[in-house]
Amino acid sequence: MPRQTFATINLSAVVANYQQAQALAPASKTMAVIKADAYGHGMLAVAEVLAPIADGFAVAFVDEAVALRQAGCRLPILVLEGAHEPADLAIAHQYDLWIVVHQPEHFAWITAVDYAIQYWFKLDTGMHRLGLSVAQLQAGLAQLPASILQNSMLMSHFACADQPEHPLNAAQIQQIHSLAQYYQLPVSLANSAGIIEHSQAHTAWNRLGIALYGGYSHFRPVMTLSSVIIGLRTIADGEAVGYGQTWTATRKTRIATVAIGYGDGYPRHAPNGTPAILHGQRIALVGRVSMDMLTFDVTDCTEDIQLGDQVELWGDNIHVSEIAEEVNTINYELLTRIAPRVTKQYKSTN
Ligand SMILES: Cc1ncc(COP(=O)(O)O)c(C=O)c1O
Repeated sequence: MPRQTFATINLSAVVANYQQAQALAPASKTMAVIKADAYGHGMLAVAEVLAPIADGFAVAFVDEAVALRQAGCRLPILVLEGAHEPADLAIAHQYDLWIVVHQPEHFAWITAVDYAIQYWFKLDTGMHRLGLSVAQLQAGLAQLPASILQNSMLMSHFACADQPEHPLNAAQIQQIHSLAQYYQLPVSLANSAGIIEHSQAHTAWNRLGIALYGGYSHFRPVMTLSSVIIGLRTIADGEAVGYGQTWTATRKTRIATVAIGYGDGYPRHAPNGTPAILHGQRIALVGRVSMDMLTFDVTDCTEDIQLGDQVELWGDNIHVSEIAEEVNTINYELLTRIAPRVTKQYKSTN
């Protein structure tokens, strides 16, 4: 039997989350963002379950897109980072990919070849990570034949969409809309937070990422990370646990050791007190996170505890966002960091 440490992916929840996001913006098409192995959930499994209902997919770079095409995906695939080098345009042409254009240099790459690729021209409306200035867009578009322009899009990316009151949101929305009007091109702007928080940002295409994976409340959790108890002991008041002996018992304490650690993607800096679920009850992490093991105080657990009992690190009963907050990061990072040694298993339940 393999190690009983699993990332269990609920594919029905992925479908439900996609439909829920689409219902929030019914006039828009919704692109499922499945880069980084679908935020750690398994790109091909997620793509397969969404294929009958999704309008398209987005990935980060051409390698991810090619893997998706080679697995048989026939839907539109947008490459969010565009071409890293001119040769990526030939790949985009071969595999029928949509390419984001975000650097002035890209216009020369485009005009050097004659591919009927759909280009998404990305404006830097304030994020200052990728994107063209208005002047760069204007100069670049002037070089392109009408046949390319007729088949292209404008896009931008929110910097602060998850802070609905942030003034940059309105400025970004206003800028992309006015340019779209000027160039008479369709637009893509909203990510998950944009879909949920900013109806003025709903445009031709929205790009749904973290909400697809249940990263927002009101969406269904998708990944449950779990493992089992492989050690049980009782320590005395005053005895300490783990590397560096960073947690000391203040009473007679039952310690359960669970077979998952930072080598599996569980965050090493999770502090004492980080919660998990055992038999439906909350238990608290005590002592340092090891490479392959965690230790929990299970003294107050009212159920009989046995070796092999399952512990949920996050999932249906404890939201990944709560753990992310405990460890001072975001749910995106926790989900994408699950190591390959964790067995993914897929289920479909409503
Ligand atoms: C350009 C772009 N669009 C959309 C998304 C999806 O964002 P979210 O996961 O917040 O929905 C991302 C994610 O990083 C992105 O980089």
